[in-house]
Amino acid sequence: MKAKVVVCASGDGSNFQALVEAAQRGQLQADIVGLIANKPGIGALNRAQNLNVPAKILPAKNYTSFVEWDLAFLRQLRDWQAEWVVLAGFLALIGPQVLAAFPKRILNSHPSLLPKFGGQGMYGQRVHQAVIEAGELETGITFHWVEAEYDRGAVISQFRLAVNKGETPTQLAERVKCEENRLYPRVLEDLLRSTQ
Ligand code: GRF
Repeated sequence: MKAKVVVCASGDGSNFQALVEAAQRGQLQADIVGLIANKPGIGALNRAQNLNVPAKILPAKNYTSFVEWDLAFLRQLRDWQAEWVVLAGFLALIGPQVLAAFPKRILNSHPSLLPKFGGQGMYGQRVHQAVIEAGELETGITFHWVEAEYDRGAVISQFRLAVNKGETPTQLAERVKCEENRLYPRVLEDLLRSTQ
């Protein structure tokens, strides 16, 4: 039986697409049953449409409270019979009800070597800008379990990349993203195998 996985995204969705395509190729034994977006008009939603993956938009501002949003999120996961939740550029905190319902089943990827360059506001280009400004010689990608705070939670695995001399944040971002797209399906596949 393939594991039912829901991906959550707030942006371009390249990792979402990489996961779907790896599953289609049979490199990832998962059924990507849905995409949750927290805002309309994002690239990930276009990709979901092109890839024929059901999508749901759940903006927190449409709910009377964070608790209500958390519950709606949980209902959607239950509707799709999700077993795993994969955050791929999802810029919202996961609520306590969802966290409690999916212990060690929600993971995230962050484009730096956490705990360096993580936390609230550290996303997208800002991460790579900060890495370069700090004169770091290496950066990387961290896959970690999700907790109630941004970029916290035990590390699952980390991958290192050298920062090239004179590299711009845009160039570094592109290289890191490329690696992340390649690695995310592998990391998830390893987890699925080890928890079978
Ligand atoms: C990735 O770099 C991920 O690590 C971070 O946000 C980015 C999302 O990229 N959390 P995409 O939307 O999957 O292209």
